[in-house]
Amino acid sequence: MKSQAALVQREGVKRCWDGNIYGLRKIGQGGTAFVFDIDETAVVKVPIGFPASISAFEREREVYHILAEAKNESPYVLKCFQAELRSGLVLERCQGSVRDELLRMHMEVPHKFGDAEATERAIRWSFQAASGLGFLHSRGIIQADVGCHNMLLDERDNLKISDFSGSVIERTGEDALVSYSVHSQLPGVSKADRRTDIFALGSAMYEMATGRVPLEDLSPSQVRRRFKQAQWPDMTRLKDTYVEFALVIEGCWNLEFRNVNKAAARIELAYYDSVELGFKPPISNQDLTEESWTASQSKGRPKQKPSQKQESDRKKAGKHHRKRHGTQSQKLPKVARGVVSWFHNFR
Ligand SMILES: Nc1ncnc2c1ncn2[C@@H]1O[C@H](COP(=O)(O)OP(=O)(O)O)[C@@H](O)[C@H]1O
Ligand SMILES: [Mg+2]
Repeated sequence: MKSQAALVQREGVKRCWDGNIYGLRKIGQGGTAFVFDIDETAVVKVPIGFPASISAFEREREVYHILAEAKNESPYVLKCFQAELRSGLVLERCQGSVRDELLRMHMEVPHKFGDAEATERAIRWSFQAASGLGFLHSRGIIQADVGCHNMLLDERDNLKISDFSGSVIERTGEDALVSYSVHSQLPGVSKADRRTDIFALGSAMYEMATGRVPLEDLSPSQVRRRFKQAQWPDMTRLKDTYVEFALVIEGCWNLEFRNVNKAAARIELAYYDSVELGFKPPISNQDLTEESWTASQSKGRPKQKPSQKQESDRKKAGKHHRKRHGTQSQKLPKVARGVVSWFHNFR
């Protein structure tokens, strides 16, 4: 199988994989593909074999080609190390999906949701998801099946948007090959577009915050009816404690955000609120080593570590903005840039 030999390149380390999936351990399966372990850093995603799974595989390969053309990359979009092999796509290895993690948390400690640590994770994941989606949208990709099942976590608890097997490539004008789950579907819109991704992000954020998909006790037709009437799930409890965060979720459902980056910036404000309520940022800029800071910056971003003053100015700007414009404001402060390091776990 020499012709299929793949050179997996990552962080300067080169490893050879012969492209042969026999003997590899299966670690995941979706509607169109199996996922096998290559090593501790890479997996291979292989189409199941039926015709639709092959089209889905080719669509995902095309998406990764488009992402590879970009000058920069997002730390919150799953990386593809090798997209040319016939046998499968060689992808960055993750631990599992956000949904798996939420189920695990819920089984371990059923009352976990609503506590400070769980909510800090939910807000951080939400920021990472919005930021990853923002990158995809900027490259003309609509994920088209946004949900906690297609968001993976790396070993440092950072979220990666994955699974482009049904995504829309805007420049081709072709439809999505998948659809959102009923709990994530923007009512009245049948074709996936940037708005439908943002609506579904709202549902994913709700699941991250509560461990439940929205309106999970209702039948699909009841969910559709409720969504059509803009009757969102009750979030009184979340609003009692993390009102800013709850408002961003509703903002996604109400299509308040002109684009997903605006949602990311509002999540950032929610994060400041949670910090004021007693959280510490997962890591402060002072704790970063020069190396990890550089690693956090995608190409084109400033490579300098912000000073203590810049950091406190950003915090003040967030507070000032809320005081002045209130929480519902669509105008956003200029604090969004550079904050990515606060949301990124290096531990
Ligand atoms: N890079 C990865 N690292 C670890 N597990 C993965 C990875 N990619 C996918 N998986 C696992 O395989 C499952 C199916 O992958 P997915 O890309 O969603 O396939 P499908 O297109 O068939 O839905 C995921 O839900 C996840 O559990
Ligand atoms: Mg999937």
